Amino acid sequence: MCGIVGYIGLPEKTSQHGALDVLLEGLRRLEYRGYDSAGVATVASGTVSMRKKSGKLANLLSEIEAEPVAEASVGIGHTRWATHGAPNDLNAHPHLADGGKLAVIHNGIIENFAQLKAKLLAAGEVFASETDTEVAAKLIAQHFTATGGDLTEAMRLAANQLEGAFTLLAVHADQADRVVASRRNSPLVVGLGDGENFLGSDVSGFIDFTREAVELEQDQVVTITTDDVAIINFDGSPAEGKRFSVNWDAAAAEKGGFGTFMEKEIHDQPKAVEDTLLGRTDASGRLVLDELRIDPEELKNISKIIVLACGTSAYAGMVAKYAIEHWVRVPVEVELSHEFRYRDPIIDDSTLIVSLSQSGETMDTLMAVRYAKEQGARTLAICNTNGSTIPRESDAVLYTHAGPEIAVASTKAFLAQITASYLLGLYMAQLRGKLFQGEIDDILADLHKIPGKIQEVLDGGEQIRELAREMAQAPSVLFLGRHVGYPVAMEGALKLKEIAYIHAEGFAAGELKHGPIALIDQGQPVFVVVPSPHGRDSLHAKVVSNIQEVRARGAKTITVAEAGDADVVDYSEQVFYVPETQPLLMPLLTTVPLQIFACALAAEKGYDVDQPRNLAKSVTVE
Ligand code: F6R
Repeated sequence: MCGIVGYIGLPEKTSQHGALDVLLEGLRRLEYRGYDSAGVATVASGTVSMRKKSGKLANLLSEIEAEPVAEASVGIGHTRWATHGAPNDLNAHPHLADGGKLAVIHNGIIENFAQLKAKLLAAGEVFASETDTEVAAKLIAQHFTATGGDLTEAMRLAANQLEGAFTLLAVHADQADRVVASRRNSPLVVGLGDGENFLGSDVSGFIDFTREAVELEQDQVVTITTDDVAIINFDGSPAEGKRFSVNWDAAAAEKGGFGTFMEKEIHDQPKAVEDTLLGRTDASGRLVLDELRIDPEELKNISKIIVLACGTSAYAGMVAKYAIEHWVRVPVEVELSHEFRYRDPIIDDSTLIVSLSQSGETMDTLMAVRYAKEQGARTLAICNTNGSTIPRESDAVLYTHAGPEIAVASTKAFLAQITASYLLGLYMAQLRGKLFQGEIDDILADLHKIPGKIQEVLDGGEQIRELAREMAQAPSVLFLGRHVGYPVAMEGALKLKEIAYIHAEGFAAGELKHGPIALIDQGQPVFVVVPSPHGRDSLHAKVVSNIQEVRARGAKTITVAEAGDADVVDYSEQVFYVPETQPLLMPLLTTVPLQIFACALAAEKGYDVDQPRNLAKSVTVE
């Protein structure tokens, strides 16, 4: 949560695009991380110029247009998701200290801010905002004075006093040749330019200007100048970052002709799945996941898998459970990261923790992974963001290649996570000899057909959009599913809650008679994700009975079923067919109509589909 960007360039570099333009472009790309307020501070001629405004970035742009800032070659910018203090102008970042000569921005939560603030107040400091950030600004200012004007050392000393999660960026009018940052448990990457350098919450903060980047470790301070990037640890010892190149370009983070990022990302899904499958088999068709950085022998000896994730990623984890248990015959638990570490879980060195995170920065998941590591578990991250913290701190990583996901509501990352989980399951089944190579080949062949089948669903999207427009006034929508359709039902409900602000619930269809059926009344819309008629254990027939049961009580039933499934027709007001595939792979297809439905319904209601209220893309606070 919160997007941060920092920039410094030689005057001739800066004159090409202007420090302010670099900062605003970075904020535009990072706005998905929070949009309660935005602000910038630049330094020129020994003065800090600051503008900040509550609301979206557009408000800041109007503010700057009305009152321009001085031309500068160094500055910082922030887009906020409020934690401490209301989302108003005063609490917007940057925060100033040292008589207006120091500007500071922050992402995270400083947990000991109340104690620090009490001490500062007792010492006569006056605060302009309710934020924890201003406490950090005051501390940095005190150390700046005490060190005779050394911003790097002042940042290091202040960081050592702070507890919690933070990325802090600072500029000072008396040392305008640098931007200094520190990080603990919050994201920060460095962008490398020629005669200019950048800082960002993630690489999209500077992707328009460079694709060369440096990862930082925890508890480090970085100082960028026009020609240098210097990293030290919080104890003052020198450190080196890890360089990497970003494998997508600025165009990948644009809307590509669609009205919203979410629509574009739903349409990116064939490619997201295809790219996640790419290069993961050798010439003979055997899965090769060398990139995992984990000894295959260890994977052979794993006795239990615990999948940790939040939100949509946790639903991908539930799909993974069905597939991995079926193929690998290893028990798999799926747990919300924030519940996991507070329940005294049973873990040992034969436990494999698989974390699923699009951003790789979700604090709840990061903390759960750290906890599991401390208990001796092996940790494997399935992640979409190169250079992010969770994969860096895990023993192994399997990247999804969905490309940048900008819309707050996750779509393509979900399908890519499911795809990567299937690959992991098949790889473990191959290692442990649980499936014949022919069986693995068949599943892989079907997986490779999925992108084309998703495209077919997308091509038929108008039928779903039409229904969404008709249903825009529905006060509540229920979703039922069973087996792998159950997490899909929950994901369909979550999408509707997040972007259309409609009450929606996903249920296991078998649970219906144990309570939820009481909700069914005349006209209640119920989506049913119908299992494949070719699946096991007559599940299909049981779900068809569930459709009849709710229909008999007045529900408006909408079914998502496999092409050719005639059994649902008589009991469905509308049927959305998806192409046939193996029952375990069906979530890659049945999710898509539900995403299209939520997106179209939210758009019909006139809501901001990409930036729904109260949410942020990357939840970097607990
Ligand atoms: C919902 C959504 C969230 C995320 C969750 C975890 O559309 O995007 O529920 O899935 O916050 O985020 P990551 O995957 O980044 O750990």
